[in-house]
Amino acid sequence: MNILILGSGGREHAFAVKLHSSPLCDQLYIAPGNGGTQHVATNVAISPTDFPALKAFVLEKEIAMVVVGPEDPLVKGVYDFFVSDKELAHVQVIGPSQHGATLEGSKEFAKEFMVRHNIPTAKYASFTKETVEEGCAFLSTMKAPYVLKADGLAAGKGVVILEDLHEAQAELRRMLIDAKFGQASTKVVIEEFLKGIELSCFVLTDGVDYKILPTAKDYKRIGEADTGLNTGGMGAVSPVPFADAAFMQKIEERIVKPTINGLQSEGIVYKGFVFIGLIKVEGEPYVIEYNVRMGDPETEVVLPRIESDLVPLFQSLYNGTLAAQELKITPESATTVVMVSGGYPEEYEKGKVITGTESVTDSMVYHAGTTLKEGALLTAGGRVLAITSLGADFQQALQKSYHSISKIHFEGAYYRRDIGKDLSSL
Ligand code: AMP
Ligand code: GLY
Repeated sequence: MNILILGSGGREHAFAVKLHSSPLCDQLYIAPGNGGTQHVATNVAISPTDFPALKAFVLEKEIAMVVVGPEDPLVKGVYDFFVSDKELAHVQVIGPSQHGATLEGSKEFAKEFMVRHNIPTAKYASFTKETVEEGCAFLSTMKAPYVLKADGLAAGKGVVILEDLHEAQAELRRMLIDAKFGQASTKVVIEEFLKGIELSCFVLTDGVDYKILPTAKDYKRIGEADTGLNTGGMGAVSPVPFADAAFMQKIEERIVKPTINGLQSEGIVYKGFVFIGLIKVEGEPYVIEYNVRMGDPETEVVLPRIESDLVPLFQSLYNGTLAAQELKITPESATTVVMVSGGYPEEYEKGKVITGTESVTDSMVYHAGTTLKEGALLTAGGRVLAITSLGADFQQALQKSYHSISKIHFEGAYYRRDIGKDLSSL
């Protein structure tokens, strides 16, 4: 079958490599892709949210499956666009309906869903412009640190954690009254702060049955020892060493099952990935957030550990056979280290020549912000490359990733040298 991937990051390059290896995949396209994806797929200059252009392309190329990488098209209803169009209804879209995507598109919706289904999460209340003074009063009843979350999508920047009550109250006013995050902060969720260690659990579901994919831990801050600004993600490790069988059992019973049962009982159509952001607090799992897609860079460590062909797994979301599918996971560990442009996540320059990727032999080089121009590989984004390796344990995998990085050069390149270090001491 012909398959189209939507997106342009390292996550989508990892999907492209995996799908390209499937004997069931004939032509593979990616819209818009990047400088690396064109080795395994055909890049197509269409935005993932330009639904009419996607329709024309899907019909022209007889595409039977669309794998959606980022949240934007999902929250904008790409699934519903396809199923409600007679000419497109046969196409298998891997991703939730717009209703399902609200689990990521609205923090308040996600919190209410968790409360309805008794899924452990931080206590919260939500406020609007009209109730901003109640919000400030609510903050004064809470203990520091204060967690404020813009309800809508804010490009990963909508969560603010502050130590000082007056600053938190001022921030709440900025979000609600001054629309700091635009539409996204017309509502704000204020949450109890949870102290613990974070990890992510990924689930593939057809809305009834599910498969739990490998866990991963990502490293969000730009600076070593988790300091500095938040980024899209600077590295990841899979599996998460502290997520042992007993802890995974708790996650499955208390979180995964009620989430999938909740989707089903509420009639929410969902044929895709649920990315559950978790925090382990005194041995117990709590949900920090839902995402309705795979993570980036987590995908770059999760997919390389999946030995099974993804295409039959994806097809099974449409023919009710997910439960019968085999999901084979390698016991090896995977790590990825992200190389970014100097200055990221603030201002950075693009167009720097990247050399050395072809001499990497021990790792997979997933491209994110790259482009090919007249045969030269150039930087084209903040996160440039994700260097993934497999090893008997994550320390061995990391050694390989760092060795491979030493062969790759571009002006201003930066990466964290401490990925996984926190895990050794646990
Ligand atoms: P989110 O966008 O909801 O994943 O939040 C971004 C980050 O903020 C999370 O990865 C956590 O590190 C942190 N965070 C969010 N909610 C809480 C909470 N209730 N307690 C502690 N940290 C939180
Ligand atoms: N790495 C976190 C995310 O994809 O949201």
